[in-house]
Amino acid sequence: MTQIGTDIHVATQFLEAGNVVGIPTETVYGLAGNALNPDAVLTIFRVKNRPAFDPLIVHTDSLIKVEQFVTDIPEPARLLAETFWPGPLTLLLPRHDRIPDLVTSGLPTVAVRIPNHPLTLDLLRSLDFPLAAPSANPFGYISPTTAQHVANQLGDQVPYILDGGPASVGLESTIIGFENNTATVFRLGGMALEQIERVIGPVAVRTHSTSNPKAPGMLSSHYAPRKPLVLLQPGETPPFHDKAGALVFREPFGGIQPDHQRVLSPTGDLNEAAKNLFAHLRTLDSLPVEMIYAEPLPNQGLGWAMNDRLRRAAVQP
Ligand code: TXA
Ligand code: MG
Repeated sequence: MTQIGTDIHVATQFLEAGNVVGIPTETVYGLAGNALNPDAVLTIFRVKNRPAFDPLIVHTDSLIKVEQFVTDIPEPARLLAETFWPGPLTLLLPRHDRIPDLVTSGLPTVAVRIPNHPLTLDLLRSLDFPLAAPSANPFGYISPTTAQHVANQLGDQVPYILDGGPASVGLESTIIGFENNTATVFRLGGMALEQIERVIGPVAVRTHSTSNPKAPGMLSSHYAPRKPLVLLQPGETPPFHDKAGALVFREPFGGIQPDHQRVLSPTGDLNEAAKNLFAHLRTLDSLPVEMIYAEPLPNQGLGWAMNDRLRRAAVQP
């Protein structure tokens, strides 16, 4: 059985012994293990039921530590790191041998991030190794934004979950890589594109799914609830439906029972909507409905990343 608590010493002990621990971050909860210990990394893959070709993000607490795990930090990456870390941004950098192959699924780059959560930053400071941590959900399901979400889904396999409250951003980190002096976004996420471009100028976006995706967060069937989800067109309203649920931006729809609907942000605040997105999807998934309609969000700020998640969660037409 799992234990939920706020004691970083307990978390430290489990991690030092090679166990996995649920950790809070500002984006989503992670399933963390010692990134330098291949057995701990294997446990992460096993508990998540994650295919070995899907690499993990390495978390640490300072740029000085990051420099030990990579062989180079290109100038735009350094600029982004200095501007946005700790924060919801993951950088793909050339891997140092210290990082086991298992972590990067054999790729020459390693994904690194300094998360912005006080408890987890304290934890990372107290450890003499970085933490590999994917989102703490079974592979393919919605990412957890509370400690209870983690306990509900992985509880019997995770001895300790550090409870840092509900995630303040609510979307996985934005992933950005650097090739031939070009910055490319591989996953839209909790750091808005507009903010990134303000610092390093225009970036390419390559988030389409392929059979061999560079970032499997790009796989089209991902982040999905169990109930079929239908993504509406902008301005479209769903037909009257007694047994449908709806995820809406500001206001409930007329044709769907009010208690089958969840509003992301009554005031139309995209950051608030992002914070609520995954928890509301989970709630809708657990209601006695047969399907879920989702209203698309405005394409600005975090709206891009939310629409990306909804498209991947949706049944393909
Ligand atoms: O916000 C987040 O990023 C959360 C929290 C816990 O930090 N973590 C997270 O991890 O979302 P995960 O494993 O669910 O998603 C990481 C994504 C995967 O799609 C993986 O394919 C991609 O990062 N990735 C990791 N290393 C990569 C690499 N070297 N090259 C390309 N993609 C990589
Ligand atoms: Mg994930």
